[in-house]
Amino acid sequence: MANAPAVPTADDDVGYMDGVIRAGAIASTFWGVVGFTVGLVIALQLAFPVLNFDLPWTNFGRLRPLHTSAVIFAFGGNILIMTSFHVVQRTCKARLAGGLAPWFVFWGYQLFIVLAATGYVLGITQSKEYAEPEWYVDLWLTIVWVVYLLVFLGTIWKRKEPHIYVANWFYLAFIITIAMLHIVNNLSLPVSLAGAKSYSAFAGVQDALTQWWYGHNAVGFFLTAGFLAIMYYYIPKRAERPVYSYRLSIIHFWALIFLYIWAGPHHLHYTALPDWAQTLGMTFSIMLWMPSWGGMINGLMTLSGAWDKLRTDPVLRMLVTSVAFYGMSTFEGPVMSIKAVNGLSHYTDWTVGHVHSGALGWVGMVSFGALYCVVPILWNRERLYSLRLVGWHFWISTIGIVLYITSMWVSGILQGLMWRAYDTLGFLEYSFVETVEAMHPFYVIRALGGAVFVAGSLVMAYNLYRTMRGDLRDEAPFVGAPVRAPQGAVAAGE
Ligand code: HEM
Ligand code: HEM
Repeated sequence: MANAPAVPTADDDVGYMDGVIRAGAIASTFWGVVGFTVGLVIALQLAFPVLNFDLPWTNFGRLRPLHTSAVIFAFGGNILIMTSFHVVQRTCKARLAGGLAPWFVFWGYQLFIVLAATGYVLGITQSKEYAEPEWYVDLWLTIVWVVYLLVFLGTIWKRKEPHIYVANWFYLAFIITIAMLHIVNNLSLPVSLAGAKSYSAFAGVQDALTQWWYGHNAVGFFLTAGFLAIMYYYIPKRAERPVYSYRLSIIHFWALIFLYIWAGPHHLHYTALPDWAQTLGMTFSIMLWMPSWGGMINGLMTLSGAWDKLRTDPVLRMLVTSVAFYGMSTFEGPVMSIKAVNGLSHYTDWTVGHVHSGALGWVGMVSFGALYCVVPILWNRERLYSLRLVGWHFWISTIGIVLYITSMWVSGILQGLMWRAYDTLGFLEYSFVETVEAMHPFYVIRALGGAVFVAGSLVMAYNLYRTMRGDLRDEAPFVGAPVRAPQGAVAAGE
């Protein structure tokens, strides 16, 4: 075992503000492990209900939003804030704007996470999926988010590069749209200070539509646009190739943001929502196929001339696999938005399988890839502690994901078909509890997949920790593996 010497970088001249990004890398790794573990706990609760322990604080109903918020907002949010601060500085050749404001964004965001999480466990919620926190948490997040927007815009404003690189467009769309969605969907009237209770400004089907306009665009702009920014920066950097087509990336950007915003009603098929609105949501969802696959192809083809690196660099393999999962989930989503298909898939585990092929395969893998890229750069290390461990992490999490999503597909389609099976006399063939029984083996397989995925994330946390400490594992490198993560301005269309 050797101690890695610190490598001076040319970046030091610009005086980049990297402390806040280092804090973001640690926070994302920490929240990732926490969020995945809570996911594993609720997966086990569904398989073995005794694990609810009959306590209000630990029941599935309270832990489920804890899981979704921990993985989306705590893990995903920290990854997005951290990488956006890294990418905007490097591509603009400018230090983050606003003096201490970036630190306010970092700590303010951690406070938001803690406020939201404590509320869930104590039973404080406005019962809107992915927007559960009550008004006091929402107000705080609004302040933090506006400062985040100002820091990002300020850095672009003082850039020394004339061109605004496409990743920054995606980050900007993510930051602005999330602000808009968050404010509109959370418009409400607080009715109690002590009980932290409020009532939504919308009622009935308008409330449902606003909620799913928010919910779907949280997928589109939080889980997709921001992570596409990561794809557009870190894949070219790691492969040391320019983006396959810069022109396509611009078309991808405008088409994606224009189409996503209309697709929300596909969450409300066969409800009181007017039929025309449901059909509109379905149509826009199907159209979304094109920009999604255009983006995927652009990401994958960036490897033209560098495919051999997949053999030697497991970090690049992780990034590229994430893009493949992105393609898979954005193929499945439009199919599920077709009303006839949704009639079968809605309310079943098929949706949960779809969610996690996007969440684990796309969001998870691309985030792990980004962490593996930034940590050696930020801690000024020659390379990661161990590339072999990255290889292990890649395979462990891939197996976990496959177990998770295949079990949910089978369980979901089985569930949907059992619900709609009639006998010759027109009676339902199965009682509800029979469908629950039929799903049990798949819930066990899903929990196993989750446990494997959590194990992979612990391997990553260990590898990153040793890298931060400056250790180097004595190992035979993959043939041709990069010694140092590439850095500097991205060579995309430049
Ligand atoms: C170890 C990894 C994970 C496990 C074991 C896990 C497990 C679960 C379980 C059991 C549920 C509840 C499903 C139900 O109510 O029937 C769930 C829901 C959910 N999880 Fe995960 N999860 C994991 C990772 C993630 C990640 C990384 C993300 C996002 C980045 C994520 C996003 C979600 C979302 C959005 C839902 C709600 C789905 C819906 O309402 O249809 N999960 N997860
Ligand atoms: C072209 C892209 C996509 C389309 C058209 C699409 C479409 C859909 C549809 C039709 C549903 C089921 C709605 C229902 O029956 O209630 C759904 C659920 C969901 N999708 Fe996608 N999807 C896409 C991509 C993605 C990606 C990439 C992710 C994750 C990164 C994702 C995350 C989710 C989540 C979290 C839900 C569950 C929402 C809930 O009920 O709580 N989707 N999507």
